[in-house]
Amino acid sequence: MKIVHAASELFPYMKTGGLADAVGALTVTFAEMGHEVSVFLPGYRGALSHPLAAGAERRFRIKVEMGDESLSGDVFAFSPSKNLTVFLVVRDEFYDRRFPYGNGERDYEDNSDRFIFFCKAVVETMRLADLGADIVHAHDWQTALLPLLLREAERRFGVTLAMKTVFTIHNIAFQGLFSAACYPRTNLPDELFSMDGLEYYGQVNFMKAGILFADRVTTVSPRYAKEIQTPEFGCGLEGVVQTRVDDLSGLINGVDPAVWNPVTDKLIPARYSASNLSGKRTCREELLRQCGFDADFQGPVFGMICRLTEQKGVDLVLANADFFTTGACRFVVLGAGDRRMEAALGKLASAWPDKVYLCPKHDEAMSHLIEAGCDYFVMPSLFEPCGLNQMYSQVYGTVPIVSRVGGLFDTVRDADEDQASGTGLMCAPTAPELRDALERALRLFANRSCYAAVQQRGMARDFSWRTAAAAYEALYRDAL
Ligand code: ADP
Ligand code: GLC
Repeated sequence: MKIVHAASELFPYMKTGGLADAVGALTVTFAEMGHEVSVFLPGYRGALSHPLAAGAERRFRIKVEMGDESLSGDVFAFSPSKNLTVFLVVRDEFYDRRFPYGNGERDYEDNSDRFIFFCKAVVETMRLADLGADIVHAHDWQTALLPLLLREAERRFGVTLAMKTVFTIHNIAFQGLFSAACYPRTNLPDELFSMDGLEYYGQVNFMKAGILFADRVTTVSPRYAKEIQTPEFGCGLEGVVQTRVDDLSGLINGVDPAVWNPVTDKLIPARYSASNLSGKRTCREELLRQCGFDADFQGPVFGMICRLTEQKGVDLVLANADFFTTGACRFVVLGAGDRRMEAALGKLASAWPDKVYLCPKHDEAMSHLIEAGCDYFVMPSLFEPCGLNQMYSQVYGTVPIVSRVGGLFDTVRDADEDQASGTGLMCAPTAPELRDALERALRLFANRSCYAAVQQRGMARDFSWRTAAAAYEALYRDAL
């Protein structure tokens, strides 16, 4: 098949979270399976200067209509591996920035323009390059207008650019909600600024367009596919999602073994496998050292890696701060984002430097060291469409402590409830329930053989992207 993906993040060129990992691994896997894959990414500063993009060449000079204006851009392309072409949409005014969506404090003010332009640039490039796609697959709100803009362009030019379109919701909490003033920039018909179109309580909602106008809608776990049909998790779009239930499915992400595999991982000080965990002990010692803790410490080390946001249950962790400061354990957090959360965690770490460590930045190598060096991974998300770290943790023999939501529900089993097949500890996303799970973790760790059994079962699990990609492939074929 000829498959076109478009996303605002793509590992290793631009990443803020799991979206990058998911689209990166999915596109590489499809290419390895023999499909012809094109993937579009905005030409961010970091993407253009990435060593793998060194051979990128300017392929097209494009003109994009934005309301009454016509804006130009350049489309660069390179092929990092067989069957795979990466297209970078370059317009410095929009993308020559360090971060994709905002500068930490707040979102860029021109985000609606930036991503309308991006979607239109994808359509225009598909037309100029005559890509003849079987499937166009858009991800999250940033590219949610693509399926609709594609059909509009086909109508206008009397051509077929793609057979079917797929839209994946990676997180319904971010919808791309903008003032109605941006609507004319889409050049879409006025009728579509209505309840059956992009209008949402007087504003423009990009994600709504993806859900309504793609041929198929997917999200990243079966459980989340059910959850987003409810007011509790649908973030106001549950009614819209309900109109597409017949075309909606939940497909779990995978783990990219080229990046996340303790047997081959170059970012950790020693490699290891389920049958020989001595390397994991080395990683643990190195982690303890890097955090300024006593490297001989024998109790459990808890780790957490996430964007610091409400979603990730950071407040539940903070409510249990005394567990980490008074218990016989150590706690390492890698995360940046919300200033209040960062400050609260920072305060905890400076008050208890022997027990709590905060690394307040995005650090790829540190994330691998934490996955490898910890005994437990803490992920008490309030909601979690899929979640990747609970899977990475199982692969790295780090027992995950997760809440029973979304993809966490689908990929972890509780070791106390299910003694034959449990691979982690689960709780409801509340502070007391998390406390209970943390206490259970201490008891489990004290029983070495039980802990080892849970750890081994996690390491034996198969989270391969092949399985995930095969599920998408079946969905594509079904749509076609
Ligand atoms: P989300 O996409 O909601 O952020 P996921 O669990 O799907 O959550 O994916 C998060 C990804 O981002 C993981 O690969 C994780 O290791 C990575 N990550 C999050 N915060 C950091 C950080 N501060 N430094 C390095 N990697 C991080
Ligand atoms: C989103 C979700 C996360 C998911 C990731 C990749 O960022 O928050 O749960 O794993 O997308 O699909």
